[in-house]
Amino acid sequence: MPAGVSRIRIALAIALAAAIFLFDTVSPAGIAVAVLYAVVIMMSVDLCDRRGIILVSLGCAVLTMIAFLIGHGWNFEGDPMLRCLVSLSAVGITSLLALRNQRATAVLKESERRYRNIFQTAGVSIFEEDFSAVRSALRTLKQRGVADIRGYLADHPSFVQHCIAMVQILDVNEAAIRLLGAREKTQAISSLRNYLLPETTDSFREMLCAMFDGEHSFEYETAIRTADDERRAILMAATFPPEGDSYRNVLISVLDITERERAQRALEQAQSALAHVSRISTLGELTASIAHEVNQPLAAIVTNGEACLRWLNRVPPDLGEARACVEHSVAEGRRAGAVVQRLRNLARRADPQVVALDVNGVIEEVALLVGREAAEHGVALRLDLGPSLPPLRIDRIQLQQILINLTINAMHAMETVTDRPRQVMVESREQWPSSIRISVRDQGSGIAADAMPRLFDAFFTTRQEGIGLGLSICRSIVESHGGRIWAENNADHGATFHILLAAAKDEE
Ligand SMILES: Nc1ncnc2c1ncn2[C@@H]1O[C@H](COP(=O)(O)OP(=O)(O)O)[C@@H](O)[C@H]1O
Ligand SMILES: [Mg+2]
Repeated sequence: MPAGVSRIRIALAIALAAAIFLFDTVSPAGIAVAVLYAVVIMMSVDLCDRRGIILVSLGCAVLTMIAFLIGHGWNFEGDPMLRCLVSLSAVGITSLLALRNQRATAVLKESERRYRNIFQTAGVSIFEEDFSAVRSALRTLKQRGVADIRGYLADHPSFVQHCIAMVQILDVNEAAIRLLGAREKTQAISSLRNYLLPETTDSFREMLCAMFDGEHSFEYETAIRTADDERRAILMAATFPPEGDSYRNVLISVLDITERERAQRALEQAQSALAHVSRISTLGELTASIAHEVNQPLAAIVTNGEACLRWLNRVPPDLGEARACVEHSVAEGRRAGAVVQRLRNLARRADPQVVALDVNGVIEEVALLVGREAAEHGVALRLDLGPSLPPLRIDRIQLQQILINLTINAMHAMETVTDRPRQVMVESREQWPSSIRISVRDQGSGIAADAMPRLFDAFFTTRQEGIGLGLSICRSIVESHGGRIWAENNADHGATFHILLAAAKDEE
């Protein structure tokens, strides 16, 4: 309270007390005038501390008694005595209430001070915003019968802008000023709109939906532009007041996650580079069979070409047979081309393209890629493909890489097997609810108990020429798609590796 105002109020209180005292002493009125001291005590609440209130109350009580003694002497009987007692009780009760009120106000002030302190010094940026106008605009929409807010906002993008303009920034803390790169608080508050990116508008739209749906809180990853024109990735969180409360003080906390996002991107790039290296090294392991895959059609082309020449050298040339030879050559050439294309795809380093994939198609392609290698290891590669599986959303090359790693591991695990058929079975099944399980089962050596927990660790290998990255890469790909990969030993021989991935949703 300004000093001038409090001085006037002190003077008023003293004047009132004096007036009451005078009236109480000289007035013959048969009423308990001193009850009015309650007003003086209530006035003192804002002006004094605890001790002050007690002193004022005592003063009022003393004045009441003095007035009584002056008016009635030492005669403690009858109505005047009763009126004096009523007045003293009124003074007592009021002073108790005033003290209690003062304590509550002090607690409130302390909590407000603590809150302000936390607000100002918090490590996260906090924006205090008034959303009451937005709240009533949303309420009006509801009253007009709008039920699908997302649809409404899609049809009326200007409504979002309108709401953004309606939000009033009340306060921001130090961290927020730093985050925005603003020079001072007033700059941060007045020009907050300059810091918004199109993404920020998206997050605001989502926040409107959350408010419309009566959610209690809201969290969203988005971005803002700083005063230095830098993009900062942020995580914003808001807690809305309970239904019915005003939205006059909504606190929005904002965490700068730019570094986290940068680290995440670097990690993804490193993983992708590693996966690429591992694919190339897998191709290295497959060279013998690749050469065979390409040589076979080449040899057929040469044979057909020679035959064609012979048919053409005849007198008269047999054009029909020559044409047939050329047609064979073309078909073989295409086959070789397809083999090379598959390998190029696998060796290519491109950003993953997540599309809806036919799992069985990919398994069949992998069988073509590793089939020759299997044959050379004396391994029978069998497929048991589930009928009409839903599509998976995953990058084709990544899924191929997983399956190649698992089948080649299976073949390696059977290198020493001589007493039973070497067989790898790749199975695909739909698994409730809307997932697909792919299992690669072998008849090999199985997995030792101490190896089991470390199987998917990077650089864990038990093979002399192994690198130990295959399974670790499989796991990172599967998990980045929200799936699961695990291994178990079979009841008889060998091990089975399973991967479980969620099927693509219908609308995707
Ligand atoms: N089908 C399997 N049967 C038994 N052990 C396996 C099988 N697949 C993988 N392993 C074990 O897991 C280890 C790691 O495999 P992986 O990550 O592909 O690396 P690498 O093949 O270079 O050793 C292998 O060295 C092997 O000990
Ligand atoms: Mg391997």
